Amino acid sequence: MADKSDEKKKLEKFQTPKGVHDILPGDHEYHTFIKKVVRHRCRQAGYRRITTPMFEFTDVFARTIGDETDIVKKEMYTFEDRKGRSLTLKPEGTAGVVRSYIEHAMWDLPKPVELYYIEPHFRYDRPQKGRYRQFWQFGCEIIGESDAALDAQCIQLSYIILKDLGIADTFTLQLNTIGTPEAREEYLQILQDYYVGKERSLCEDCKARLKTNPLRVLDCKAEDCRILSELAPKMQDYLDKDSMEFHDELKGYLDELGIEYVENHRLVRGLDYYAKTVFEFWDTTDGAQNAIGGGGRYDGLVELLGGPPTPGVGFAFGMERIIANMKINKIKVPTKDYIHVFVAQLGREAKQKCLPLIEDMRNEGIKTMGAMGKGAIRDQLGLADKFGAPWTILVGITEVRESTAIIRNMKKGTQETVPFNKVVSNLKKKIGEKNLDKYSPGELLY
Ligand code: HAM
Repeated sequence: MADKSDEKKKLEKFQTPKGVHDILPGDHEYHTFIKKVVRHRCRQAGYRRITTPMFEFTDVFARTIGDETDIVKKEMYTFEDRKGRSLTLKPEGTAGVVRSYIEHAMWDLPKPVELYYIEPHFRYDRPQKGRYRQFWQFGCEIIGESDAALDAQCIQLSYIILKDLGIADTFTLQLNTIGTPEAREEYLQILQDYYVGKERSLCEDCKARLKTNPLRVLDCKAEDCRILSELAPKMQDYLDKDSMEFHDELKGYLDELGIEYVENHRLVRGLDYYAKTVFEFWDTTDGAQNAIGGGGRYDGLVELLGGPPTPGVGFAFGMERIIANMKINKIKVPTKDYIHVFVAQLGREAKQKCLPLIEDMRNEGIKTMGAMGKGAIRDQLGLADKFGAPWTILVGITEVRESTAIIRNMKKGTQETVPFNKVVSNLKKKIGEKNLDKYSPGELLY
């Protein structure tokens, strides 16, 4: 006999775990549009697409993002495989791309190597608006050259993508340089000295960060931490000449490109691998100053993962945050997910005639549904309406006998009878050549 609790379990409604969600068809229209824009702009700039695995050895992330960062300390989905090896679902894209660069000796390719990705990532963050445990990022990495013109091109590409998405005006570009790790040493000591005696005013996280990752204290959002960090010594006053010249050069290029930026001395980013340039795009429409994307230069990263000294620069954007922003700003995305024709039929013979007709129409690029069920024609017309089909084809007993079909204009409520073998050409004219869905990747092979 089945246990009562078993029955209860069966009736239980399953839902996604906290912080993850389905991408339903409506949101896929945004995803598709964003992917198209990213692919197009990346292609124009010579990037090639890369996909790294969903999980890597934990060390790939721990060593690069930094042991003392929030991501590594609190947010990684880490598990052991059957042989006890520690693996982690990727919390970000750069470390995996760099691991791949080394594994496949991409230094043999012409430099710089430009790669882009559009992928889900995983962070065990506290779920809230714009913060999820599985989220999508698109990102770009330029590996192999150190030149401020490449940092400028990265920022420019981000900016163009935001512009194509219709939301560039809702963000400010926050820019900073954090110099090289060696140059930062002196500043870190000065920063720690500045906070001596002020620890009590810091939030609990910053009290700990002061010892382990003092730079992060600078960009804490808690009010008291912020007031103190505004008065803190500025990093740029202690950085090396080379980093500052690089930064000035970058600003000159951005000016030339007409890209506005806000110099933000407290911007440090939440990952340890950066050197010199760091930047973020902040949402001006929301007070929380949420970053929609960010990036920077990571000249030591390839070496950190065991490769030869190789510079790099890149950025990534959160797609859920972009979509939320597009919706707030009422940006409508173009979609091809609609049908042209619904086929309503009466009786088995009509259905038999309609199935090959449907195939012919689809092959000609007419998006077609229908020829199902046994409902009355009136009910089928109701269904065609619900699917939003502008045209319905009606095939009943009379039409089968006379080898005709009725084409109904759903908006006007008018209809005409046409010879069955003229239905496709007639509809193609009505729909218009440019609206037909003719693309078929398979065709390219022949
Ligand atoms: P990040 O700033 O950690 O940078 O993430 C980039 C973007 O991903 C964020 O600005 C945000 O839009 C989105 N994001 C991050 N966490 C979440 C979350 N929990 N839920 C929703 N969206 C989120 C990086 O990941 C670096 N790898 C960027 C980079 C590439 N730097 C150099 N190259």
